[in-house]
Amino acid sequence: MRCLVPCFIGILLITALLGVTSGAELSFTLEPSDIIAVQEQPLMLHCQVDGIQPITTQWRRSGVPLADSEYHTMFHNGSLLIGRFQKTKSNSSTDEGEYECVAQNSFGLVVSRKARVQAASKCLREHLVIVVVLARCGEASLPTLGMGKL
Ligand SMILES: *[C@@H]1O[C@H](CO)[C@@H](O)[C@H](O)[C@H]1NC(C)=O
Ligand SMILES: *[C@@H]1O[C@H](CO)[C@@H](O)[C@H](O)[C@H]1NC(C)=O
Repeated sequence: MRCLVPCFIGILLITALLGVTSGAELSFTLEPSDIIAVQEQPLMLHCQVDGIQPITTQWRRSGVPLADSEYHTMFHNGSLLIGRFQKTKSNSSTDEGEYECVAQNSFGLVVSRKARVQAASKCLREHLVIVVVLARCGEASLPTLGMGKL
Protein backbone atom coordinates (compact mmCIF):
# COMPACT_ATOMS: atom_id res chain seq x y z
CA MET A 1 0.00 0.00 0.00
CA ARG A 2 2.95 2.36 0.66
CA CYS A 3 3.98 2.03 -2.95
CA LEU A 4 0.70 3.41 -4.19
CA VAL A 5 1.44 7.14 -4.02
CA PRO A 6 5.06 7.04 -5.30
CA CYS A 7 4.00 4.63 -8.04
CA PHE A 8 1.20 6.90 -9.07
CA ILE A 9 3.54 9.89 -9.19
CA GLY A 10 6.01 7.77 -11.16
CA ILE A 11 3.36 6.94 -13.75
CA LEU A 12 2.37 10.62 -14.00
CA LEU A 13 6.03 11.58 -14.55
CA ILE A 14 6.47 8.94 -17.24
CA THR A 15 3.28 10.07 -18.98
CA ALA A 16 4.45 13.70 -18.84
CA LEU A 17 7.88 12.78 -20.22
CA LEU A 18 6.33 10.76 -23.03
CA GLY A 19 4.10 13.71 -23.81
CA VAL A 20 7.06 16.07 -24.01
CA THR A 21 8.99 13.63 -26.18
CA SER A 22 6.19 13.15 -28.68
CA GLY A 23 5.65 16.93 -28.77
CA ALA A 24 9.30 17.33 -29.71
CA GLU A 25 8.70 14.83 -32.49
CA LEU A 26 6.42 17.23 -34.34
CA SER A 27 8.55 17.37 -37.45
CA PHE A 28 8.28 18.48 -41.05
CA THR A 29 8.12 15.82 -43.73
CA LEU A 30 7.70 18.46 -46.42
CA GLU A 31 8.75 22.10 -46.20
CA PRO A 32 8.12 24.92 -48.65
CA SER A 33 10.96 25.61 -51.07
CA ASP A 34 12.18 28.78 -52.77
CA ILE A 35 10.33 29.47 -55.98
CA ILE A 36 10.10 31.90 -58.86
CA ALA A 37 6.42 32.61 -59.40
CA VAL A 38 4.81 33.41 -62.71
CA GLN A 39 2.64 36.50 -62.45
CA GLU A 40 -1.15 36.13 -62.68
CA GLN A 41 -0.80 32.36 -62.31
CA PRO A 42 -1.74 30.14 -59.36
CA LEU A 43 1.06 29.16 -57.02
CA MET A 44 1.08 26.27 -54.56
CA LEU A 45 3.37 25.92 -51.57
CA HIS A 46 3.59 22.70 -49.57
CA CYS A 47 3.99 21.86 -45.91
CA GLN A 48 3.52 18.51 -44.21
CA VAL A 49 4.08 17.58 -40.60
CA ASP A 50 4.34 14.36 -38.65
CA GLY A 51 3.14 14.24 -35.06
CA ILE A 52 0.29 13.64 -32.68
CA GLN A 53 -3.06 14.82 -34.00
CA PRO A 54 -4.79 17.19 -33.99
CA ILE A 55 -2.20 19.29 -35.80
CA THR A 56 -3.06 22.70 -37.16
CA THR A 57 -0.95 24.41 -39.81
CA GLN A 58 -0.84 28.06 -40.64
CA TRP A 59 1.08 30.16 -43.15
CA ARG A 60 2.89 33.45 -42.71
CA ARG A 61 4.23 35.79 -45.33
CA SER A 62 7.15 37.86 -44.09
CA GLY A 63 6.02 37.16 -40.54
CA VAL A 64 2.37 38.10 -41.05
CA PRO A 65 -0.21 35.29 -40.68
CA LEU A 66 -2.28 34.70 -43.82
CA ALA A 67 -6.02 34.31 -43.60
CA ASP A 68 -8.12 32.03 -45.75
CA SER A 69 -9.58 34.42 -48.30
CA GLU A 70 -10.43 34.79 -51.96
CA TYR A 71 -6.67 35.11 -52.55
CA HIS A 72 -5.40 32.27 -50.37
CA THR A 73 -6.66 28.73 -49.88
CA MET A 74 -5.23 26.55 -47.16
CA PHE A 75 -5.80 22.85 -47.61
CA HIS A 76 -6.07 20.29 -44.80
CA ASN A 77 -2.93 18.61 -46.13
CA GLY A 78 -0.99 21.79 -45.28
CA SER A 79 -0.63 23.15 -48.81
CA LEU A 80 -1.23 26.82 -49.52
CA LEU A 81 -2.69 27.97 -52.82
CA ILE A 82 -2.20 31.55 -53.96
CA GLY A 83 -4.96 31.81 -56.55
CA ARG A 84 -3.37 34.46 -58.73
CA PHE A 85 0.18 35.50 -57.97
CA GLN A 86 0.70 39.24 -58.14
CA LYS A 87 3.93 41.12 -57.64
CA THR A 88 2.01 44.35 -57.18
CA LYS A 89 -1.58 44.35 -55.98
CA SER A 90 -3.99 47.24 -56.35
CA ASN A 91 -3.46 48.24 -52.71
CA SER A 92 0.31 48.15 -53.32
CA SER A 93 0.86 45.01 -51.26
CA THR A 94 2.56 42.01 -52.85
CA ASP A 95 2.52 38.23 -52.95
CA GLU A 96 6.31 38.24 -52.97
CA GLY A 97 8.10 37.54 -49.72
CA GLU A 98 9.29 34.86 -47.38
CA TYR A 99 6.68 32.21 -46.69
CA GLU A 100 6.82 29.92 -43.72
CA CYS A 101 4.52 27.30 -42.34
CA VAL A 102 3.71 27.00 -38.64
CA ALA A 103 2.49 23.67 -37.29
CA GLN A 104 1.09 23.20 -33.83
CA ASN A 105 -0.40 20.50 -31.68
CA SER A 106 -1.15 20.42 -27.95
CA PHE A 107 2.51 19.55 -27.21
CA GLY A 108 4.30 22.19 -29.18
CA LEU A 109 4.89 24.32 -32.21
CA VAL A 110 7.36 24.14 -35.08
CA VAL A 111 8.17 26.69 -37.76
CA SER A 112 9.34 25.59 -41.19
CA ARG A 113 12.20 27.03 -43.18
CA LYS A 114 11.49 30.31 -44.95
CA ALA A 115 10.71 29.90 -48.63
CA ARG A 116 11.64 32.91 -50.72
CA VAL A 117 8.98 33.56 -53.33
CA GLN A 118 9.83 36.00 -56.10
CA ALA A 119 7.97 37.01 -59.21
CA ALA A 120 9.64 36.09 -62.48
CA SER A 121 10.91 39.35 -63.89
CA LYS A 122 9.54 40.57 -67.20
CA CYS A 123 13.14 41.06 -68.22
CA LEU A 124 13.85 37.36 -67.76
CA ARG A 125 10.89 36.43 -69.94
CA GLU A 126 11.99 38.85 -72.67
CA HIS A 127 15.47 37.38 -72.63
CA LEU A 128 14.00 33.93 -73.02
CA VAL A 129 11.99 35.09 -76.02
CA ILE A 130 15.11 36.63 -77.62
CA VAL A 131 17.09 33.43 -77.03
CA VAL A 132 14.32 31.41 -78.68
CA VAL A 133 14.16 33.83 -81.60
CA LEU A 134 17.96 33.69 -82.04
CA ALA A 135 17.92 29.91 -81.88
CA ARG A 136 15.20 29.76 -84.52
CA CYS A 137 17.08 32.22 -86.73
CA GLY A 138 20.23 30.14 -86.36
CA GLU A 139 18.46 26.98 -87.46
CA ALA A 140 17.03 28.66 -90.51
CA SER A 141 20.34 30.53 -91.01
CA LEU A 142 18.47 33.81 -91.27
CA PRO A 143 20.47 36.62 -89.66
CA THR A 144 17.54 39.03 -89.54
CA LEU A 145 16.07 39.54 -86.09
CA GLY A 146 12.75 41.33 -85.94
CA MET A 147 12.55 43.07 -82.58
CA GLY A 148 8.79 43.62 -82.84
CA LYS A 149 7.20 44.41 -79.50
CA LEU A 150 10.33 43.40 -77.55
C1 LIG B 1 -3.07 19.10 -51.02
O1 LIG B 1 -4.38 19.16 -51.52
C2 LIG B 1 -4.54 19.98 -52.67
C3 LIG B 1 -6.01 20.00 -53.04
O2 LIG B 1 -6.56 18.76 -53.07
C4 LIG B 1 -3.66 19.42 -53.80
O3 LIG B 1 -3.79 20.24 -54.95
C5 LIG B 1 -2.21 19.40 -53.34
O4 LIG B 1 -1.38 18.84 -54.33
C6 LIG B 1 -2.08 18.60 -52.06
N1 LIG B 1 -0.72 18.70 -51.54
C7 LIG B 1 0.13 17.67 -51.55
C8 LIG B 1 1.48 17.94 -50.98
O5 LIG B 1 -0.16 16.58 -52.00
C1 LIG C 1 -4.15 44.34 -49.55
O1 LIG C 1 -5.23 43.50 -49.88
C2 LIG C 1 -5.04 42.18 -49.44
C3 LIG C 1 -6.22 41.39 -49.93
O2 LIG C 1 -7.42 42.02 -49.63
C4 LIG C 1 -4.93 42.13 -47.93
O3 LIG C 1 -4.72 40.80 -47.50
C5 LIG C 1 -3.76 42.99 -47.49
O4 LIG C 1 -3.71 43.03 -46.09
C6 LIG C 1 -3.91 44.38 -48.05
N1 LIG C 1 -2.70 45.14 -47.76
C7 LIG C 1 -2.71 46.38 -47.35
C8 LIG C 1 -1.37 47.01 -47.14
O5 LIG C 1 -3.75 46.99 -47.15
